Amino acid sequence: MTAVAEAIAAPYRIGEHHAFYAAGREFLYLVPSGAIFGLEGLSKTIVDLLRHEALPREAIRSRLAGLHPAAEVEAVIEELEFCDVIINGESREKFPALPEPEFPIQRIVLNTTNQCNLACGYCYEYSDDKIAESAGKPKYMSTEVAQAAIDTLFKEAAGRPLLHVTFFGGETLLNFPLMKWAVEYANKKARESGKQVDYSLTTNATLLTEEIVDFLAANRIGVTVSIDGDKELHDRMRVFHSGKGSYDVIAPRIKMLLARHKTNSIGARVTLSSGVRDVRRIYDHLTKELGFQGVGFSPATANPDRLYHIGGQKMDDVFDAFSELAWEYRDFALKGGQHYFTNVNDSIKELHQGISKAYTCGAGLGLLGVSTSGGIAACHRFADSPVAQMGNVLDGGVDHGARRQFLENHHIGARPDCHSCWVRPVCAGGCYHESFIHHGQTAASTLNQCDRVRNWIDLCLRIYGEIAVHNPQFLQRFDEN
Ligand SMILES: C[S@@+](CC[C@H](N)C(=O)[O-])C[C@H]1O[C@@H](n2cnc3c(N)ncnc32)[C@H](O)[C@@H]1O
Ligand code: SF4
Ligand code: SF4
Repeated sequence: MTAVAEAIAAPYRIGEHHAFYAAGREFLYLVPSGAIFGLEGLSKTIVDLLRHEALPREAIRSRLAGLHPAAEVEAVIEELEFCDVIINGESREKFPALPEPEFPIQRIVLNTTNQCNLACGYCYEYSDDKIAESAGKPKYMSTEVAQAAIDTLFKEAAGRPLLHVTFFGGETLLNFPLMKWAVEYANKKARESGKQVDYSLTTNATLLTEEIVDFLAANRIGVTVSIDGDKELHDRMRVFHSGKGSYDVIAPRIKMLLARHKTNSIGARVTLSSGVRDVRRIYDHLTKELGFQGVGFSPATANPDRLYHIGGQKMDDVFDAFSELAWEYRDFALKGGQHYFTNVNDSIKELHQGISKAYTCGAGLGLLGVSTSGGIAACHRFADSPVAQMGNVLDGGVDHGARRQFLENHHIGARPDCHSCWVRPVCAGGCYHESFIHHGQTAASTLNQCDRVRNWIDLCLRIYGEIAVHNPQFLQRFDEN
């Protein structure tokens, strides 16, 4: 038999997938491609046939003879095969390939300082889970380091027209002069090289002034404000060194920021902890009382021994509250409105774009973190630590050997625990910092979180399916970027 004849005779089976139901229909989330396929009519009939047994093309045709025109059966088999819904012979590669060694950087995160005017109870930079070794290192980033970091970004970003610089800390605005200088320097380099740079800042908001906000607005700098809810909730963890809560200092500054800065997005970032996890109350306060139009939640990364760690039942409650907000997002979307819960928005965007990740995030790949001493780490969470290091901007720039090793060790292909998991196209193993805190190594998958990750993406798929059926125009906003 020829190879072609063998392929035709080989039985078809259903490709790797996760089935879900939405709007009264069945959908398949296809793995590893990350595509979503709605089953209807004949496509559902053929998939249902193959659920019971693998069948060659001829057998599918003869089972459906007299029920559907032969040409239609043929066309649907072709379409299902083209989309990898059904497969005969070899499956396609289970994982995306390793990136090219010269894969370009797109974003640097500059830790403008390792100092902070707050002492938040959960902060990974200063708490018992701290991994940074900042003793003896500069407290503030110098213009020399910022210049070398920006030069490194431009050098390593070959071919990319749009670059990103994110300012981070410690409390980032403790070194506002450096930030101003860096924006001016990067803009000059962008003009000279015909590239574009955009900027973002994460801040605790205590130091925002009208002058700073006007600078942020003039330079279209996106802002993420860290805030954990209303005064009572926020002040439980986000306190000054004296122990006094920071809410009263930041609330008027946030209102001023939202009123004055309209040139880029301003979002709230909530860090949930054991005593601060009333998601609905926090969401309502931040959107209705303060006026944020984007609120993202993230449970504090913490060793399970820490009092602020959210474990077991408490995490289930958080998930239930996330679900409630996610269904509310669906209700808004069906009416063409915008809901401000960014966790679900971000997941739906990834699902719509058919993301299939080789890595959980851009750390070490398109993104690098730079510490005050110029040390380059996979991301800002490892700045000045002994972990995930890959060079120094003052001394040779990116260590490509170390970066390559990092990318090989953290690739989805190197994570056997994830190889049969249907959610791997969007999870790809979980946050490296979370892994390090829980398992002592960055390349260990965050297996303590898997059920929740799968439940979350299943929920987002069902919401996606409902929107796709009842208001598909809503999804156009995710078509690019
Ligand atoms: C480390 S701070 C640096 C920027 C600035 N000082 C601020 O608070 O926005 C950046 C973000 O990390 C969050 N964060 C701190 N410790 C965390 C932890 N253990 N787990 C998760 N997020 C944490 C903070 O709440 C904040 O939103
Ligand atoms: S303000 Fe930011 S850097 Fe400072 S302690 Fe709080 S989370 Fe950490
Ligand atoms: S970490 Fe868990 S949920 Fe994520 S891809 Fe791996 S097995 Fe799946």
